[in-house]
Amino acid sequence: EQPTVYVTRAIPAAGLDQLRDRYDVVVRDETLPPSKDHIVSRLEELDAEGLVCLLSEDVDATVLDASPDLSVVSTFSVGYDHIDLTAAAERGIAVGHTPGVLTETTADLAWALLLTCARRTVEGHAHVAADEWETWGPTLLTGPDVHDATLGIVGLGKIGTATAKRAAGFEMDVLYSGPSRKPAREDELASFGVEATYVERQQLLAESDFVSLHVPLTEATEGLIGEAELGRMAEDAILLNTSRGEVVDTDALDEALDRGEIARAGLDVTDPEPLPADHPLFRHAPERLVVTPHIGSASTGTRNRMAEMVAACTEAGIEGEPLPHSALRDAGVE
Ligand code: GLV
Ligand code: GLV
Repeated sequence: EQPTVYVTRAIPAAGLDQLRDRYDVVVRDETLPPSKDHIVSRLEELDAEGLVCLLSEDVDATVLDASPDLSVVSTFSVGYDHIDLTAAAERGIAVGHTPGVLTETTADLAWALLLTCARRTVEGHAHVAADEWETWGPTLLTGPDVHDATLGIVGLGKIGTATAKRAAGFEMDVLYSGPSRKPAREDELASFGVEATYVERQQLLAESDFVSLHVPLTEATEGLIGEAELGRMAEDAILLNTSRGEVVDTDALDEALDRGEIARAGLDVTDPEPLPADHPLFRHAPERLVVTPHIGSASTGTRNRMAEMVAACTEAGIEGEPLPHSALRDAGVE
């Protein structure tokens, strides 16, 4: 009998087909996330050895204990803040994720938000669509220049570095902050003609025209950008978040936009997520706020590669081999 893999929501066929070659694969056929109870009862009934999940699923000890044979959880995301890694390590359950394959695609999206916030394209589209465009205007929808501006990268990891790299063509000054200086990343950027300067976060906030967030969500980064940080940013500065919604204090952002402490925010991730259209924050859109529905990695090719990676991690976990990308190893939990 083949081992069973439970998949909480359909991922691209590139990954499912790979799994189906070797395992009994049960895919939950719904577009919304399952409740925790549902995942637990399915893992139990199926006696599953593998669980494939998305970032919308909360994988805690209860889920990890549901099937005695569970040997691997594989998430279709680079982020693993929704998984209790310590509980997984204690149970000897491997945890796979998808770093690397989505780096460049997510950096592209950070730039899409940066450019749209600076040059007000979403607002412009709304203006035209509402039939408000009467004539070419000397000051119609003017915004800041992107070229020659200062880009501040909070968290110079893979995605932060890929985002910084793209500043070369815009001849921007690049600052970055984080727990420590990253000489190897600086060298990598220098080879693309980008000189990245390590500064304290406070200095980065004060001196950047664009502040782009690229930290994972941890206890240390939850609420990293709050009232004091937003207050330190320039009045014409733009905040971009493609990391996790909880890194920014939503109420503080709402007030900062209200009081004109920063010019605009472009968010691909929000807290809460999804952000309902009647949420108070949304009253700033589209003039001061642009929101996209967590689509950082959403290119067709990247989503296919993520599916293949998820399948490879699941396979390795079931076979008892080292995972190509272990969240436990990457988080330093094992
Ligand atoms: C199907 O397997 C489901 O979990 O709904
Ligand atoms: C998306 O946010 C991911 O973690 O892959």
